[in-house]
Amino acid sequence: MSGDPNFRAPVGVHDVLPPESGRWAAVIAGFADRATRAGFGLVQTPLFEHVEVFRRVGEHTDVVHKEMYEFRDKGDRLLALRPEGTASVVRAYVEHRPLPPWKVFYVAPNFRYERPQKGRYRQHWQLGVEVLGLDDADIDVEVIALAAGFYADLGLRRVRLKVNSMGDPDGRAAYVEALRAHLGAHAGVLGETFRERVEASPLRVLDSKNPDWAEAIATAPRITDHLGPEASAHFDRVQEGLAALGVAIELDPRLVRGFDYYTRTTFEFQSDALDAAQNAIGGGGRYDGLAEAMGGPATPGIGFGIGVERLMLALEAEDALPDPIGAHPAVFVVDGLGDAGGTHALTLTATLRDAGIATDRAYGGRGLKGQWKAADRSGARFGVMLGRAEVERDAVAVKDLGRGEQVEVPRADLVAWIQQRLEESPS
Ligand code: HAM
Repeated sequence: MSGDPNFRAPVGVHDVLPPESGRWAAVIAGFADRATRAGFGLVQTPLFEHVEVFRRVGEHTDVVHKEMYEFRDKGDRLLALRPEGTASVVRAYVEHRPLPPWKVFYVAPNFRYERPQKGRYRQHWQLGVEVLGLDDADIDVEVIALAAGFYADLGLRRVRLKVNSMGDPDGRAAYVEALRAHLGAHAGVLGETFRERVEASPLRVLDSKNPDWAEAIATAPRITDHLGPEASAHFDRVQEGLAALGVAIELDPRLVRGFDYYTRTTFEFQSDALDAAQNAIGGGGRYDGLAEAMGGPATPGIGFGIGVERLMLALEAEDALPDPIGAHPAVFVVDGLGDAGGTHALTLTATLRDAGIATDRAYGGRGLKGQWKAADRSGARFGVMLGRAEVERDAVAVKDLGRGEQVEVPRADLVAWIQQRLEESPS
């Protein structure tokens, strides 16, 4: 580690190095596979946008108000690093007007100036999907089931899915007033911070873990008792659909998500294997008014974001980390020709790689013993050695590094020989 703090990663951000990064690659590939199977295409939006884009997710939310990385560029534009994925995707939709329904997925870093702790960082990555242009309850079900299926693919078991409905804007406004009145009645006893919070955002009081407030929260009116008939019917259909797909849910009328754009269905996946303060491993919901708020046509939307770092922590806690992609080559080339080797090791390695076989080698004319050690350490299945005798016979020596058996294979047959064995038993 460098002693000079200038040459360390800033507080709250981190590097992801092999082999951990190989596990990330496995997780990302699994997600991309699930999403593309469900008809989603990859979307890539810029890391920064005009600040206004993100202000649309809620001027008074912590993420926008307190945690955003804002800056002026040299052209005096007020920009911000992306704190979350949805706003950028909706901005791209409004700008390009692709034919709805528009179904996209992303793998992207987000930036929030939070107080760093385990599972809470200033840069975190999200795997997410967004659907623009559908208000059918079936898409709510499919989006939620996609996330649930992905967690199941990874082997996570201790995941709970909480579901709520925020209703339509009218019903929600009436509910917020009822909530404000209820909570306001407790303000005299609960003090200044409570009163301020109730005034700024009564909804956000609901997800407080402050034990002094628990009583006021427990007796508060429930949003699901204030849904209008359409929002209520929609929510019923979402629950029916999830039940039909066998996705277990917990209804939680106190589930409050951190952005103002949510309407109707909202949900969060929580891991029981993580500390309660950072146990949300994914969340999302509908945002039927966001495209319009950005000057686009009225377009319903729904999506979710899954925090990759927290997902990794949950996988680790459940002892379910996937094998890293690319951690071990299949073949390690050992150059037994020394200085007289010429380009043999170079060309043999290239031939194997071009044939699709993961191959590594030693460099710099190391001694044979050192090279075989490197071959063992690489975790390769086979060591392939070019020795003088073998080269004269146009062959190579192939050693099964696990079993220690060695055979000679004609060089022209090597690729097929290895491919056949890798197919017979891939690991
Ligand atoms: P979010 O709940 O703010 O939602 O973030 C989604 C997930 O990102 C969280 O459940 C958590 O796993 C992870 N996450 C958030 N902040 C941090 C952090 N500071 N450190 C580590 N992980 C974090 C959204 O961002 C919405 N855009 C989701 C969405 C998509 N809603 C509709 N479409």
